[in-house]
Amino acid sequence: MNNYCMDIDLGTPFLVEGFNPYSISKTHSILDQSVIHSDLLSLLDDLDLKVIYIEVFFKHPFEKNPIHADDGPSDMSKLNWIFGGGRSVMNWWAPKIGEQCKPIEVVTDINSSALCYPEDSVDLVHTQPIGFPSIIQSGVPHNITMGNEPRWCYSLVFFTKDTRRLTFVQTIDLFKKYIK
Ligand SMILES: [Fe+2]
Repeated sequence: MNNYCMDIDLGTPFLVEGFNPYSISKTHSILDQSVIHSDLLSLLDDLDLKVIYIEVFFKHPFEKNPIHADDGPSDMSKLNWIFGGGRSVMNWWAPKIGEQCKPIEVVTDINSSALCYPEDSVDLVHTQPIGFPSIIQSGVPHNITMGNEPRWCYSLVFFTKDTRRLTFVQTIDLFKKYIK
């Protein structure tokens, strides 16, 4: 086990029938929970989780993308489902020790914020393909190395019912019976 990514099998469909996950061509957008299959919504409800929204990230083959940490706690999770993507992988990075690393705050296309890190200020700590789905760490600087296929990442952002974001390890613990 690592602190960045864990494949799980929830045993439910992800999206409602009739929704085409390949139909989105905006770089970064959000969908509400109406696109999520009712079996998955029930499963999340049983775990006392509620959906905030689904972020959709579309990337072209070999597209470069910045190393960034999502805004929020420095340890937090999302559930990611990948469509297409070929041999794309997600990378996680650690700010170099001793470096006066000054991440740059940016506003994303969905009006959230993220902290971007220059590549020479960080060291690669982990790389892994993302599954269907995987629990991923989004509070640590990360980016995607694209392959030769377009990639759609559907990233489910959730709260506990008392509106807390869970850390990666708390999420693994909650979903432990679904670990592959
Ligand atoms: Fe991110």
